[in-house]
Amino acid sequence: MTRSNTTLGIACAACVGAGTVVALAQQAPDDGPRYEDGTRLVLPDDYREWTFLSSGLAMTYEEETTASDSSARPQLFQNVFVNRSSYRGFMETGVWPDRTTFVLEFRRSASEASINRAGRFQSDLVMLEAEVKDARFPDGWAFFDFGRAGALAETADPLTGERVARCIECHTRHTAVERTFVQFYPTALEAAREHGTLKPGF
Ligand code: HEC
Repeated sequence: MTRSNTTLGIACAACVGAGTVVALAQQAPDDGPRYEDGTRLVLPDDYREWTFLSSGLAMTYEEETTASDSSARPQLFQNVFVNRSSYRGFMETGVWPDRTTFVLEFRRSASEASINRAGRFQSDLVMLEAEVKDARFPDGWAFFDFGRAGALAETADPLTGERVARCIECHTRHTAVERTFVQFYPTALEAAREHGTLKPGF
C-alpha cells in the first residue's frame, strides 16, 4: 500500500464516522403516536410540552341551531398541540409527515378573578380529543376521544361509524390543509402559503 492510499483509508474511516453522527443527528426523535394492540392510541401524557398551534375561544361549528342555545353554553378554549418533529416537518414542507399527532384540549374559561376585570382566561380541563396521520389506518387518518376530565381514558380506540363520520366530514370539507384546520393556526398557515399546500379556496 502506498503512503497516499493509507492516508485515504484513514480519511475514509473518519468520514464514515462523521456520516454516522450526521445521520443520527438528523434522525427525528420518535415523538409520534404510541399504540397498544396496533391501533389503540396511548394518551400522550407530555402533549403540554409539544408545539402549541393555537387556541380558539368558544368556536362553534354547527350550522344548524340545536335545542341548547349556543349563547348559554360555557365558553371553552380549544388548545391545539402537535408533536414537535411533525411541526418542524410541516414548517419545512407544508405537509404533515406520517405519524403526526394532534391533541385538542378543551378548557373552561373564566373571568373576573384575581386582578382580571375584563376578557377571559383559561381554567379547568374539560376534555381531550386527538387525531393522527398514520399510514397504518385505511385512509391514513384516525380520530380519537379520550373523554372528559376526571375520567380521562389512558388509551382510546380509533372512533368508528357515525361518530367518526362527523369528524371526517367536517375535517375534509372545511380544512385548509389535508384533514387539518391550518387556517386557524397562524404560523402553520404562513408555511402552507409559502409551500403552496393550501387547498384551493384558501
Ligand atoms: C363541524 C366541524 C367539526 C367536527 C364535526 C369536528 N371537528 Fe375537529 N376541529 C374543527 C375545527 C374548526 C378545528 C380547529 C380548532 C378549533 O376550532 O378547535 C378542529 C380541530 C381539531 C383538532 C386539531 C387538529 C386539526 O385537525 O386541526 C383535533 C385533534 C380535532 N379537531 C378532533 C376532532 C374529533 C376527534 C372529532 C370527531 C369526534 C372532530 N374533531 C369533529 C371542526 C370540527
